Amino acid sequence: MNTSALGGACTVVVGCQWGDEGKGKVVDVLASDVDLIARYQGGANAGHTVHVGDQHIVLHQVPSGILHRDKRCLLGNGVVIDLAQFFDEVDHLAGRGVNPLGRIGVCTRAHVVFPYHMALDHAAEKAATAKIGTTGRGIGPAYESKTGRRGVRIADLLDTRRGEARVAQGIAWARDRLRQLGADPALAGTVGDAMAVAHRVPAVAADVGTEISAGLAAGKRVLLEGAQGTALDVDHGTYPFVTSSNTTAGAAAVGTGIGPTTIDSVVGVVKAYTTRVGNGPLPTAFDPPMDERVRQLGGEFGATTGRPRRCGWFDAVVVAYAARVNGLTGIALTKLDVLDTLPEIRIATGYRLGGRGGMPFPATASELERVEPVYETVPGWQTPTTEARRLRDLPRNARAYLDRLEELAGTPIAMISVGTRRSQVIREP
Ligand code: IMP
Repeated sequence: MNTSALGGACTVVVGCQWGDEGKGKVVDVLASDVDLIARYQGGANAGHTVHVGDQHIVLHQVPSGILHRDKRCLLGNGVVIDLAQFFDEVDHLAGRGVNPLGRIGVCTRAHVVFPYHMALDHAAEKAATAKIGTTGRGIGPAYESKTGRRGVRIADLLDTRRGEARVAQGIAWARDRLRQLGADPALAGTVGDAMAVAHRVPAVAADVGTEISAGLAAGKRVLLEGAQGTALDVDHGTYPFVTSSNTTAGAAAVGTGIGPTTIDSVVGVVKAYTTRVGNGPLPTAFDPPMDERVRQLGGEFGATTGRPRRCGWFDAVVVAYAARVNGLTGIALTKLDVLDTLPEIRIATGYRLGGRGGMPFPATASELERVEPVYETVPGWQTPTTEARRLRDLPRNARAYLDRLEELAGTPIAMISVGTRRSQVIREP
């Protein structure tokens, strides 16, 4: 365990599996040490359940760091913004005494997700033979609009006439595309609907890159928060069963408008086992009874869609790959406590394909579909870990499990989460 792996003024937090690794909890813990928290990619496809008093709220668009009332939260240029969802969450939080306005900024260079992007997402999934199993939040179509250079940015909405003209072009394009997909073009909606909350944009518009750079120059500390996970990255993940953005740490610089040399450390969030929601291969998937058992123990249901997550053994091939692609300086290991009752635990240490061992994480989903994981079995600890606050409080077999994961990942474990509460964490100096 090496907590210096979290050091420096600017830290990236990145998911190292298929998303849902528990980044929200890790960001929540690390947020106490920083002044600014910025998201760099994704959109309302992400979801964190947060607790405000005795209420549970699921935040998709507003960063969960907003609950730390002295922090500024930013959505960088790489995030796609569903404005209706964003202002709903802002109002919901304000109604519960946490007013985000004045503390939240959305980059003028960020692209907007409109209702027509959601209509296209649904229509494309319906028409597809190989369905991705998207969250239906319009993420893919919004990034397509961006790279197709027909997107609408936050800056466009600061001038109502320019915004309306860009949105009208977007709707005309979406109507054609819906027709091609065999869907009703009217689902693209109207300019009026799309612009319904645009008048609120000036209150939150910000130049995120400039703000982060100025903050760092003034001695502030910054956390750059990734969404989804490495294996869902559009380039480095299990293409085409991926999200439409770069989720990996390199995107943190591009998606917030700072230089890569500004980043000091990269914390990879790794769950003590593996889960996946949506379609695509999961080599270490459990058999059905174990799948159900761990899903219940870990509460593995999507925060955005409620879908059950598929569960499996720890896959060290994915995590070692993520350590390299993200340049991890440390791992935050989450949900160790979910394994507390298991008599034995398996770890996939490698893949075999066509009789050959030592396969690296493959480039294609079809190869990943066919690999056979090579397992090592270790004894469980069958003791609760939820009250552990120091490494020495953990049962010997749990420590041995962590040592093995650290060795296979080639990266020190800098933090261990043993429950959902902020205090249920092991961080040693
Ligand atoms: P999209 O991001 O909605 O386009 O969905 C593409 C793929 O990414 C699907 O397999 C989704 O289930 C998955 N995905 C998107 N966001 C998340 C997330 O926050 N956690 C886990 N999986 C996600």
